[in-house]
Amino acid sequence: MILIHFQSIAQQKVINRAKARERININKGWMFMRYNGKADDLIYDERPAVFNHKDDVIADSRPSQTVFEGTSEKVLKKWILPTANDFIKDSSKRFVRPQGNPGSDFPFVQKGFNDKNWENINLPHDWAAKGPFYKDADAIVGGGMGRLPIQGVAWYRKKINIVGTDRGKSIYLEIDGAMSYAMVWLNGNLVGGWPYGYNSFRLDLTPYIKFGQNNQIAIRLDNPPNSSRWYPGSGLYRNVWLVKTHAVQIAQWGTFVHTSNVSGSSATVALDLNIENKGATNKRVNVVTDIYSLSERGRKLKKISSFPEAAINLGSHAKYLVKSQVLLHHPALWGPLPKQTPNLYVAVTRLFTDGRATDTYETQFGIRDIRFDPVKGVLVNGKPVKIQGVNQHHDLGALGAAFNYRAAERQLELLRELGCNAIRLSHNPPAPELLDITDRMGFLVIDEIFDCWEQGKTPLDFHLIFPDWYEADTRSFIRRDKNHPSVIAWSFGNEVGEQYTAETGAGVANKLKAIVKDEDPTRPATASMNYAKPEMPFPKVMDIISLNYQGEGIRDAPAYAHLKGIKAPPLYPAFHDKFPEKLIISSETASALSTRGTYIFPVFSGFSAPVSDTTGGDPKNQYVSAYELYTAQFGASPDKVFASQDKHPFVGGEFVWSGWDYLGEPTPYYGARSSYSGIIDLAGFKKDRFYLYQARWRPDLRFAHILPHWTWPGREGQVTPVHVFSSADEAELFLNGKSMGRKKRGEYEYRFRWDEIKYEPGELKVVSYKHGKPWATETVKTAGNSANLQLTADRDEIRADGSDLSFVTLKVLDKDGNLVPQANNSITFSISGPAEIAATDNGDPTDLVAFSSKVRKAFGGMALVIIRSRSKQAGKLILTAKAPNMKTAKLVLSSRD
Ligand code: GAL
Repeated sequence: MILIHFQSIAQQKVINRAKARERININKGWMFMRYNGKADDLIYDERPAVFNHKDDVIADSRPSQTVFEGTSEKVLKKWILPTANDFIKDSSKRFVRPQGNPGSDFPFVQKGFNDKNWENINLPHDWAAKGPFYKDADAIVGGGMGRLPIQGVAWYRKKINIVGTDRGKSIYLEIDGAMSYAMVWLNGNLVGGWPYGYNSFRLDLTPYIKFGQNNQIAIRLDNPPNSSRWYPGSGLYRNVWLVKTHAVQIAQWGTFVHTSNVSGSSATVALDLNIENKGATNKRVNVVTDIYSLSERGRKLKKISSFPEAAINLGSHAKYLVKSQVLLHHPALWGPLPKQTPNLYVAVTRLFTDGRATDTYETQFGIRDIRFDPVKGVLVNGKPVKIQGVNQHHDLGALGAAFNYRAAERQLELLRELGCNAIRLSHNPPAPELLDITDRMGFLVIDEIFDCWEQGKTPLDFHLIFPDWYEADTRSFIRRDKNHPSVIAWSFGNEVGEQYTAETGAGVANKLKAIVKDEDPTRPATASMNYAKPEMPFPKVMDIISLNYQGEGIRDAPAYAHLKGIKAPPLYPAFHDKFPEKLIISSETASALSTRGTYIFPVFSGFSAPVSDTTGGDPKNQYVSAYELYTAQFGASPDKVFASQDKHPFVGGEFVWSGWDYLGEPTPYYGARSSYSGIIDLAGFKKDRFYLYQARWRPDLRFAHILPHWTWPGREGQVTPVHVFSSADEAELFLNGKSMGRKKRGEYEYRFRWDEIKYEPGELKVVSYKHGKPWATETVKTAGNSANLQLTADRDEIRADGSDLSFVTLKVLDKDGNLVPQANNSITFSISGPAEIAATDNGDPTDLVAFSSKVRKAFGGMALVIIRSRSKQAGKLILTAKAPNMKTAKLVLSSRD
């Protein structure tokens, strides 16, 4: 390695002129078609016949699928597999593209094909999100996958103009996610594809480009039903980019910045840089990488250091790894809020050949030290951070799976308000931007890739492609995400069937772990276990012991005794004894279930029960009581989890199942469309459980929250228990001014409960205390009739960029301004000005009115309208909400350039 000691101003100017790398978003203006009936026969691979279409199998059932091994000479798979080659380490295992160009004579891949009758859409696009919902019990997509029409074959087409002066450059198509089985043609040539819908991938279009002309992209997707335990989404549902580079370039996801010896006074920052020469001649390449600090909003501040410059000789079609490091003094460390600050840096790498800038590439990173101590828990920069985490699926509620930055940010903002500091990305890689948000907001993340390996969980899930794709999927996942400081650990599996297959299963786990470690030796690798026990071979493989439900015990409380299925006593101690050197975290806890604002009587007198038709459940309406005592069969109430975590302080913390409700998996009522497990409902409204977690996770926040609501005409004189969630340690309840008793929270108790209260209309008031001093009060009143509609926006000014959103909450109020908690008025929304109503919702898991509908019933007195701006059209927006016999409500918003 030779160092160069200067970098002239002239060189810097060249960068701008030569457009060293262009990354162009090509989301706009695609043509889209989904087959109504029989699709074409351009298949990726043959699939096994599905005999069991049921999708209401509960999560901890034993896997029953066999591995499909058939392939056929007629399918396109052999032309697609070479796309994986950059992610297959052993060159002898890489795929060779066969002769021929299948599909080239198919009309949709032709430039001349007339697609003007197709739908004109912009990406990200989830074709299923607008509905309608399938309502039948035996629908092709049932409750498990969200009842939306995700299934089938669809095509996307777009023309891209590539100017003549791009000749000699590499031209890539980068797809952040395509659901699923993407196959891509350019100008009638099959370029490649990627079957797993959650991974990002890149295709080299260069050999097929016609320079100085329009080029036709055609993408075929094929999304099977019976392929997931939740709503997978559909389509080109993330961003799509066109990338142009010169022949000498930084490889795909070719940088890795990692830090060591981190303290407040200094840190070693290392850069591994992969460079390629795709050109026909040898080149001498100078490498310059500068480090800048970033502002909170991601703006480059000052240059604070540079890596030693390097000069290398790079042969034609050769790759080269340049390793360098630099010592930074007084680094601004990255750490999770609220106690630390998520400071970020960016490394700007430039390549020069023949005095010309050939590539620039920015790598955002953070400097932090993370340790996993088996007794002290997770230590970030030396300080213990108890994991107060949640699991999040990838959908964005009423917007479906189509990625939207603001919608994802809103999910995290509400979780931040909850006191959550960590996210487990269950069970697949997210949109890349999500990790930009977690970096910026200072969340700790477990980034996860698979829900199954060789043993499938649904007939057509990832197990079908595991043998061909596990290495490429795993390597590409880690290469994409490894510079994010928020990612603290990799999970390469969730509750996989290989837990049941002893040494064989552990062998698969070892194989995957080796890949993870090869790509990133700096972070722990794990897979979550709901079945594997300490003495089994599976947990030995894991760097961290990630337990799903087993820590607090599965089906082990009295109310669960009659149930069949996995049973386990609280296993924190047994795992701790067996693996004293490994940290234990609960990667899934609770699976508590509830429907916001819905209370069912009588109320269970214990503190955790599986929901049933007679305990906490309403099978007719498919609701679960929000007393927050009821759970999935294998679950536990928050109270039970808290107690077990408090009794075992060596546990690093928990990831609750789940932060938000999500589409699909509506345990226990599969007639519904969305889950019951969220702390926050699908519309983004807080369930009562929000306050139970907030009291624990933000003990200094003064509040007391009363449940249920107090509007029960017809329940007069009947027992209507009152529970209070509060960060206080003592509370006194008053009903119409009369004390119902003052209570102290005992050890391992997390709620105040007055279970004998008899309903009488009027006012409930709680006065709470902490350490004997007044803490917080709360009042709930019996509401009168619906009188007014109230509209409140989360942001009343949005950017006119075609993707920014305002989330507007509608509340039905009585004449005194109290929420009418059982109001279900049908509301009609309309908007004037340059924006559209993107979707409506109300958080009711059983509401099968399409999200695209402008008419929505209130649920629990509330509804949500999502407003999306129009690109480059600024102006005043007026949202109107109308309901029969009520005064129309209007809300003025604005969209700004
Ligand atoms: C877990 C599983 C999750 C989800 C959850 C539902 O067993 O890992 O994906 O299914 O149960 O409660």
